[in-house]
Amino acid sequence: MNKKTIRDIPQEGLKGKKVLVRVDFNVPLDEERRITDDTRIVESLPTIRFLLEKGAKVILVSHLGRPKGKPKDEFRMDPVAKRLEELLGRKVYKANDCIGEDVEKLANALREGEVLLLENVRFYAEEEANDEHFAQSLARLADIYVNDAFGTAHRAHASTAGVAKFLPAYAGFLMEKELEALGERLNNPVRPFLAILGGAKVSSKIGVIKKLLEKVDALLIGGGMSYTFIKAMGYEVGTSLLEEGMIEEARSILAMAKERGVKLVLPEDFVVAPEGKEGVETKVVAWNAIPPDMGGFDIGPKTVEKFGREIAQAKTIFWNGPLGLFEVDLFAQGTVEIARKVAESGAVVVVGGGDTIAAIKKAGVEKKITHISTGGGASLEFVEGRVLPGVEVLLNR
Ligand code: 3PG
Repeated sequence: MNKKTIRDIPQEGLKGKKVLVRVDFNVPLDEERRITDDTRIVESLPTIRFLLEKGAKVILVSHLGRPKGKPKDEFRMDPVAKRLEELLGRKVYKANDCIGEDVEKLANALREGEVLLLENVRFYAEEEANDEHFAQSLARLADIYVNDAFGTAHRAHASTAGVAKFLPAYAGFLMEKELEALGERLNNPVRPFLAILGGAKVSSKIGVIKKLLEKVDALLIGGGMSYTFIKAMGYEVGTSLLEEGMIEEARSILAMAKERGVKLVLPEDFVVAPEGKEGVETKVVAWNAIPPDMGGFDIGPKTVEKFGREIAQAKTIFWNGPLGLFEVDLFAQGTVEIARKVAESGAVVVVGGGDTIAAIKKAGVEKKITHISTGGGASLEFVEGRVLPGVEVLLNR
């Protein structure tokens, strides 16, 4: 990696210093505001612990949800502070704001080895606007800036990018780990290199599909977006998800794969139903025989087998997007079976995207995955080859 990390900060350079760390603590919460998945907090611990051990005063800043530039109680960081305190095994001070005099006082009162978590940075519209004055107010809290929020590195916001104009900026360990896993492993893959793409929309994956076609040996497409490809091949898809506006793009992707000699594999069969909900009657039909009054909600058993054969041959696998409506148990089987096959493949496996991670967890195989990215949009943009603003601003080696 060509960016400086916290390991590059000179010896003793952290002792007694206030370090502002941008983390991505945008974790899922249930109705009672309990954290349902703390992976992003857990993954930030190595950076926080390292800084604390070096005698730094750690000031953490993150967004949580999309409060649209206004303070709202349901988006406060308190559940995160509590969980972080449990995980770190030490007191985490929590500020009720993220900038201003009171916060500056709290930051200045910190002693070596203490942690302060700021309030949701998106309570200010200036955050997403990457407002310079706001970035400066954040910078005023600290001596050094660290970005460990890989999940938000695709956003050019004040706390992810703007602030680096005012403080020396380094990558944290999670940022480094993500960039290496998604960069090195996928740019110089052990071959055969297989990508599995699913999810609802072709439109949100178009860039990444095109980029992957330059790199992979085979590409498996499932999930909601596969129906647009089937339509592009001239077949009807009943009431399945379809992006009319993407049919031409799908056609050009099919042609591009052919031209490049990439094996593009589409589902062989689907589980169809009148509606995508629990308790409905389902049946399995061939890919080109979806009844007009039904929609596809999962890949069928023949597809699982066919995809399984490709997975078994691969030495590197990148997976993003579920292969069916897996959040409904009735339609989860295909995705879960593919998760198991991927986990058993022995390949280097890199997985990104919240839904895909949830599917991996549903299959109970997360321990067998080489790298589970904490980034959804960020991992896709990175694989697509786009410059991530939150990375670009960090100091070069
Ligand atoms: C994410 O969950 O993908 C990141 O935290 C970014 O959140 P955002 O999509 O609201 O910018």
